[in-house]
Amino acid sequence: MTKPILVANWKNHPGSLAEAQDLLKQLSQKALLYKRLSLFIAPPYPYLEIVSAKARNYAGLASQDISALPKGTYTSAVTTDILKSFGVKLAIIGHSERRNLGETSEQVAEKARAALKAGIVPVVCIGERLRDIDGEYFEQLREQIKTSLAGISKQAITSVILAYEPVWAIGAKEALPGGELSQTVIFIRKILTDMYGRNVAEKVQILYGGSVDQTNAQVLMREGGVRGFLVGRVSLNAKNFEALATSITTK
Ligand code: PGA
Repeated sequence: MTKPILVANWKNHPGSLAEAQDLLKQLSQKALLYKRLSLFIAPPYPYLEIVSAKARNYAGLASQDISALPKGTYTSAVTTDILKSFGVKLAIIGHSERRNLGETSEQVAEKARAALKAGIVPVVCIGERLRDIDGEYFEQLREQIKTSLAGISKQAITSVILAYEPVWAIGAKEALPGGELSQTVIFIRKILTDMYGRNVAEKVQILYGGSVDQTNAQVLMREGGVRGFLVGRVSLNAKNFEALATSITTK
C-alpha cells in the first residue's frame, strides 16, 4: 500500500533556532513511526539546514514557497537552484497566506512551472475563501485551479500535488466534514478531467489541509478520498503530531 503523505507546514515557527532544535529532537524519537509515512517538513528558510541534518532519516525537506526567477541578481529571492542544493524535494506553492499577501493564481502557475523545471514537486494550494449556500464557490475553485495550473502539460501534471485547503478551515476550530471533502475532491477531479482527460486526472494526488488533527485525520482520509494532509498547527506540537501520524498509519 502507498504511504500517506504528510506535509508539515511550520509557517513562521518555531520562534527561535533553539526551539526548532528542540522540536526536531522530540520528533526524531518517533522516527520509526514517521518512516511509515511520506513525511515532508517545510520549515522557515533559515532552518532548512538543521531540518535536513536532523530529520534526514525520517522526513524529506520541503519549502514553503519558491521564487520563479531564474539564476541572476535578485535581492531576497530564494531560487530553485539554492533550494535544490539544500535537498529540497517539494515546495508548497500558493498557500492562502501567500495569496492573502497578493500572490495571484498566475504567479502560482509560474512558480509551479519553475519547480517542475527544477525537479521539485510543487504542492499547489487551492481553496475557496467562503462556502456560500448557492455553491458559487465551485465556480471560484474551477477558475483558481485552471489559472494556477496554466501552462502545465499533461506529462507534467502527474508530478504536481494539489492541496485543497478551504481558507475558512485553516487555523479554525474544525476541519471540513469528510463527506463534504469527498464531494469537493470529486469536483476537483472533474475539472482536472476537463483539462487533462480522465486517465491523467485520476493520477493527480490530492491532499487536504485546514484544521487537521488526531481526532479527524482518519475519517478525512477514509471518507475524503485524499492521499494525505498539509498540516499547520499540529505539526509544531510533537505529541499531537505523533498522535496524528499514528491515527493515519493504523487501521
Ligand atoms: P492548520 O493550517 O493545520 O493550522 O489549520 C493548515 C495550513 O495552513 O496549511
